[in-house]
Amino acid sequence: MPSVFLLLALVGSALSLDPLPTQDNVTDYAPSMNVECPDFSTTSLIREFSPQNQSLHPSEVEYVSSRLNTTVQDAWNAWLGDGSTLSYNLSAFQGHLPKVGLAIPGGGLRAAQYGAGCLSGLDARNESAKAAGTGGLLQVASYMTGLSGGSWVTGSLFFNNWPTVKDLVYGNGDSLDGWKLDLPFVSPDGDDIFSDDNQYFYGSILWSVIAKAQAGIDTSITDPWARAISYHFLNQTDRKNFFTNATAHGAGQLWSDIPQIPAFQQQLTPFPLIVTDSRPSGSNLTTSLGPESVVYEISPFEIASYDPQLSAGMNLSYAGTHLSNGKAANGSACVKGFDQAGFIMGTSASLFNQIFDFAHNTLQGFSSSDSNTLVYILQRQLRSVRTRGDDVANWPNPFNGLKSDTYQDTKATWIELIDGASNGENIPYGPLFVKSRGLDVIVTIEGSADDTNNWPNGTGSIQTASRLSTILRSTHQQFPPIPQTAGDWVSMGVRQRPTFFGCDPTQTPPEYPLVIYLPNAPPITGDDPVTNTATFALTYPLKHTQLFLDQVHFNTISGFTPNANTPDPNFGICLQCAAVDRARTKITPAVARSSICAQCFQQYCFDPQHPPSQSELPNRKLTFKDPTPQGLTKVTGFLGSNKFKLLGGVIGLVVFIAALSGGLIWWKKRRDKQIQYSQVKNFHDDADATSLWPRAQQGQRYSDYHAEAYELSESEKTLHEPQPRLP
Ligand SMILES: *[C@@H]1O[C@H](CO)[C@@H](O)[C@H](O)[C@H]1NC(C)=O
Ligand SMILES: *[C@@H]1O[C@H](CO)[C@@H](O)[C@H](O)[C@H]1NC(C)=O
Ligand SMILES: *[C@@H]1O[C@H](CO)[C@@H](O)[C@H](O)[C@H]1NC(C)=O
Ligand SMILES: *[C@@H]1O[C@H](CO)[C@@H](O)[C@H](O)[C@H]1NC(C)=O
Ligand SMILES: *[C@@H]1O[C@H](CO)[C@@H](O)[C@H](O)[C@H]1NC(C)=O
Ligand SMILES: *[C@@H]1O[C@H](CO)[C@@H](O)[C@H](O)[C@H]1NC(C)=O
Ligand SMILES: *[C@@H]1O[C@H](CO)[C@@H](O)[C@H](O)[C@H]1NC(C)=O
Ligand SMILES: *[C@@H]1O[C@H](CO)[C@@H](O)[C@H](O)[C@H]1NC(C)=O
Ligand SMILES: *[C@@H]1O[C@H](CO)[C@@H](O)[C@H](O)[C@H]1NC(C)=O
Ligand SMILES: *[C@@H]1O[C@H](CO)[C@@H](O)[C@H](O)[C@H]1NC(C)=O
Ligand SMILES: *[C@@H]1O[C@H](CO)[C@@H](O)[C@H](O)[C@H]1NC(C)=O
Repeated sequence: MPSVFLLLALVGSALSLDPLPTQDNVTDYAPSMNVECPDFSTTSLIREFSPQNQSLHPSEVEYVSSRLNTTVQDAWNAWLGDGSTLSYNLSAFQGHLPKVGLAIPGGGLRAAQYGAGCLSGLDARNESAKAAGTGGLLQVASYMTGLSGGSWVTGSLFFNNWPTVKDLVYGNGDSLDGWKLDLPFVSPDGDDIFSDDNQYFYGSILWSVIAKAQAGIDTSITDPWARAISYHFLNQTDRKNFFTNATAHGAGQLWSDIPQIPAFQQQLTPFPLIVTDSRPSGSNLTTSLGPESVVYEISPFEIASYDPQLSAGMNLSYAGTHLSNGKAANGSACVKGFDQAGFIMGTSASLFNQIFDFAHNTLQGFSSSDSNTLVYILQRQLRSVRTRGDDVANWPNPFNGLKSDTYQDTKATWIELIDGASNGENIPYGPLFVKSRGLDVIVTIEGSADDTNNWPNGTGSIQTASRLSTILRSTHQQFPPIPQTAGDWVSMGVRQRPTFFGCDPTQTPPEYPLVIYLPNAPPITGDDPVTNTATFALTYPLKHTQLFLDQVHFNTISGFTPNANTPDPNFGICLQCAAVDRARTKITPAVARSSICAQCFQQYCFDPQHPPSQSELPNRKLTFKDPTPQGLTKVTGFLGSNKFKLLGGVIGLVVFIAALSGGLIWWKKRRDKQIQYSQVKNFHDDADATSLWPRAQQGQRYSDYHAEAYELSESEKTLHEPQPRLP
């Protein structure tokens, strides 16, 4: 009898909790389930097209074309003036100016910071970039693509209303608080993961993830990862509220809300696209993918693929809805709010299936004896939280039933999305080569780490060129001629200086776009590099970030002088020549290349017949020099020794995942126990549960982890600095 009263009391409290405002709450990470679907007899959430007759989303077309004649036209005028410094007449090009896209590849915080530094060198709002003549390219861009770490800088720019890089990364003392990369991703309060603040942080993150799981959507390690990313790259977290539940820390901000952001409304921004790969659903693949597996792109309007196998897109606002042949099984079973900004960035950076290769018990970058133990621990933990692919981002499949002859996941109810570089294409080129987008110029903000010093060596571009010329031959433009092997990229030096590819097409219209390649490279001055950090370095002291961005900015605005260590005073003009070059052939009669531009192209264009040489680039230092020793390795300090220094961020990432999955396991056990209870009791207990976690249970997990971690340290001396390639 008394339990009835208790139940009633609980019903009462549950009811009084229910109407609480849902704004500014970390639980806003949960999607809304069972929303009314649009009327499928008159509306479709799916847009299908054919590889031969691609169509873009009408809202994308409208945004891009309307900008071209307004903002972008003005930006060209502001950048090139009347064109006379290049010996062109800009007004004669009007209406025919090239369509430009920027690509920002993956590589964790290195790639994000490289992206930021390079963009500041191309931004007309930065005085030194403007003075050098390079500042302005960003403003004429129609598209911007990001992948993994590159998706973080892209998302961050949008969700902070398109500020300057300086304000974005360091804060502006007002509404922007900066990226705070000195606060470790995994243990933001510092070494002691059991400190109150670290526990609050884990608690808040778990609360978000549990809210999503409770709504009935499968979660995975991508979800806590997505939440951690949000604390740094979205706009609601500052140093004062970091360890509180005072704001939602970006939960509830949706990718499909981008069109409402003021800078987008004013048409100040390029059109953003995020790239993510997929592995065939149910394949459990942990190796890198072949080129066949479908690559998706996420715009503010759609999740889509222009790969010929799929050629379809879905209304992003309704992502999270299971559709079959374009329809939901039940007209009230639609989902909204799944496209969380953090989750989009987390999906594109969901590299877990590859760093933890459960099939072979290996962890990328570790010797097998060491990784065996680590992966074993993780696997044990993850198995318990597995609802479905635990190492991927789980998306309900909206494309079920479509393109049954060609689409790999036509029978799948879930698609398994993974890091955008999983097929070896670390640069998000795909969307920019889609034929119907008709891009003329593609700028590569190349912060990949390919070689052992974490410099790019052309691998990503080679992979893309190959996929374009095979799988995507009918749907995409082709890559211009490039050096054929990574060895050539190195020996020819094109990976250490700005290089223009495809300057001299033989057809009209040109058979490929012009690619402007701006690689992360040693300082032209001969100084020690601070920008070739490991992908898994997940903490940067502020001073390092500053030196990093300044070094990249300087290289970006400087070009190179052959056989010297000085900037090229003409680089700004040369970059302008490259950006505008395709306009010459679009008007009739075509205009000849001006002599000043021809001179520039002599130095910066890649001519396969007369390849350049690395020897023209003297005194480039390849080895990373840590400007703030101990800074990057601070995260590992909690182990009570500095033996783990060499492992850098990787161990931090492992610990983070272990912590969060430990919490989820515990929650799942509770939930299983509670299934026998009433809904109301369940609700109450879960609320309780989340506030009790993690201190009690986490200690347990951690002592497990500690014990094994220390065993590992015996063999630590044999470890090498990990060189993971992803994301
Ligand atoms: C967040 O929402 C949960 C349930 O939806 C509620 O219990 C909690 O009080 C809310 N927190 C804040 C800070 O509003
Ligand atoms: C191409 O697709 C559009 C709709 O997206 C359609 O209007 C047009 O007729 C199609 N063209 C051909 C040749 O099939
Ligand atoms: C530049 O082109 C515009 C439009 O074609 C033309 O009116 C103008 O006279 C040209 N200016 C010069 C200096 O040739
Ligand atoms: C943009 O301008 C060009 C040439 O001035 C014109 O042909 C085109 O229709 C315009 N496009 C839009 C969307 O206004
Ligand atoms: C944060 O971003 C959201 C979504 O873009 C926006 O509504 C809000 O005003 C921003 N908040 C601040 C403090 O800039
Ligand atoms: C935020 O709420 C969650 C869930 O109740 C809790 O675990 C966490 O400790 C809270 N954080 C703070 C700073 O109170
Ligand atoms: C993938 O893993 C699941 C769960 O362990 C298993 O049921 C399934 O058979 C596996 N699929 C393949 C192709 O190995
Ligand atoms: C998504 O679908 C809704 C309902 O049909 C519609 O109002 C909205 O415009 C669609 N959004 C996009 C980007 O197509
Ligand atoms: C459709 O979904 C709603 C919400 O989940 C549910 O209440 C209703 O019973 C379902 N209808 C059918 C026919 O399954
Ligand atoms: C280039 O990078 C790839 C990918 O990391 C690597 O396997 C290869 O050894 C590198 N080659 C050279 C010449 O640097
Ligand atoms: C321009 O970039 C440089 C180099 O990163 C930086 O020091 C400077 O503060 C920037 N200026 C503005 C206005 O953002």
